Parts: sequence; structure tokens; C-alpha cells
Amino acid sequence: MAEPSRLVSGGSADTLPPGELRRVCSEPPVTIYNVDGAFYATDDWCSHDKASLAEGWLEGHTIECPWHMAKFCVRTGKALTAPARVDIRTFPVRVENGELFVDLGAAA
Ligand code: FES
Repeated sequence: MAEPSRLVSGGSADTLPPGELRRVCSEPPVTIYNVDGAFYATDDWCSHDKASLAEGWLEGHTIECPWHMAKFCVRTGKALTAPARVDIRTFPVRVENGELFVDLGAAA
């Protein structure tokens, strides 16, 4: 059975331009990415050792962890490089009246 919707605000879409990312201090924390105008959200914690991915480097659809440089796809959450071996979760993001919302109840 699907979890109920659990929306959290991710702040203003206008202040997250393409190529930028933002940590949302939700439970669990998530990171929102703007890739060429499309918004994505993943777990903020790296699956390797809990670094904050919001402190990493976004290049295209790939986020690189700031601690040991594992890379993940922000669209799918797939762990792309070692030392991460476990994928991270992704969450749907929508924009309503210029504000970003992440649905924590719809993790994939
Ligand atoms: S904590 Fe992210 S690669 Fe180690």
C-alpha cells in the first residue's frame, strides 16, 4: 500500500536557479536539485557514510558526495560510483505558486 502524501516546503523555486541545489531540513533531510529548470529531490544523506549531498557538487544529473566522491544520479537515486554501493531514494517535487514541495511519502 502506498504511503500517504507528506509534503514539505522546499522554499522558493525562484531562488534555486539551474545548476544549484538546496538542503531541506525535513525528517529525513532531502536535497533539491535544479537541472536545466527541472527539479529533483533525493535523500540528503549519502548512502556510504551520511555526508550531506547538499554540500557536494552537481554536474548535469549527477551529484558527487563531498566526502569520498561517490556519485549518484539525481533522477533515479542510483549509486554510480564507489565507494557507494547502495542507491539513495528519490522524491517527487512539484511547484505551486512559485514554491517547491517535496512529497516525503512518495519515495522511490
Ligand atoms: S560519505 Fe559519501 S562517498 Fe563516503
